[in-house]
Amino acid sequence: MVELNKFYIGESVKWMRDNLPDQFVDLTITSPPYDNLRNYKGFEFDYETMLKELYRVTKDGGVVVWVVADSVVKNSETLTSFKQAIYAKEDVGFNVHDTMFYQKNSYPFPMSNRYYQQVEYMFVFSKGKPKTVNLLRCDAQGRKRKSTTRNPDGTTSETKYETGHKTRVRDNIWLCDTGYMRTTKDKIAYKHPAQFPEQLAKDHILSWSNECDIVFDPMCGAGTTCKMAWLNNRNFIGVDISEEYINNICIPRLQEYGW
Ligand SMILES: C[S@@+](CC[C@H](N)C(=O)[O-])C[C@H]1O[C@@H](n2cnc3c(N)ncnc32)[C@H](O)[C@@H]1O
Repeated sequence: MVELNKFYIGESVKWMRDNLPDQFVDLTITSPPYDNLRNYKGFEFDYETMLKELYRVTKDGGVVVWVVADSVVKNSETLTSFKQAIYAKEDVGFNVHDTMFYQKNSYPFPMSNRYYQQVEYMFVFSKGKPKTVNLLRCDAQGRKRKSTTRNPDGTTSETKYETGHKTRVRDNIWLCDTGYMRTTKDKIAYKHPAQFPEQLAKDHILSWSNECDIVFDPMCGAGTTCKMAWLNNRNFIGVDISEEYINNICIPRLQEYGW
């Protein structure tokens, strides 16, 4: 049986076949290589087998958050992200529970003839109906607000109040702090070329899992999902094909947090 709260080096599809039983994982948060945008340490990546294996190891009602964006090739976006989402639904059997976006406040690849690329997709796939849904609310604590109501005689009245608690359920576009020392405060993580923000991982963990659940990242890179699972009392499993990322980033990074 696989040990929880550990990192593993390996090609993920093979690693899952060798190590994970069916219906084992509650939540996966992962980000595959985006087309050929980055030259990682010699990865092989086949999204079809990866998605099929993820379906097998996910519990009924479990969720896979698939964070992805497209590159531009020969003047056109590749739309690989959508191909992957359609494959996950049509061929693998996942529900597409939500197509969410994360909006960055830094722009890594400005192009001269396009608007600044600010969003990436966060496809929330579920195996059947999600078994855990803890929708987060807007961060509006303690803000002064006013509401206007129309009276029966057509006049209006204004009520001023201070929100002592969080207000409504969030939108499905999440604004995330990105860029050096904003994606994470862990300097060591920037040895990896493409991490997603810690806040993104944390907020999905809180949304789609409960304490003690198993949170998986089969392409864990700098270990962002694993760190946030650890800090939020979930069990994690992190796999990456790169020995260097696991040994020189993930392990020392988590050790800073009492792992
Ligand atoms: C976009 S990065 C993930 C970054 C991660 N989400 C984070 O925040 O640190 C993709 C990672 O997938 C790994 N990778 C690519 N193909 C893989 C495979 N077949 N099996 C395991 N890891 C793979 C790469 O080494 C790279 O670290």
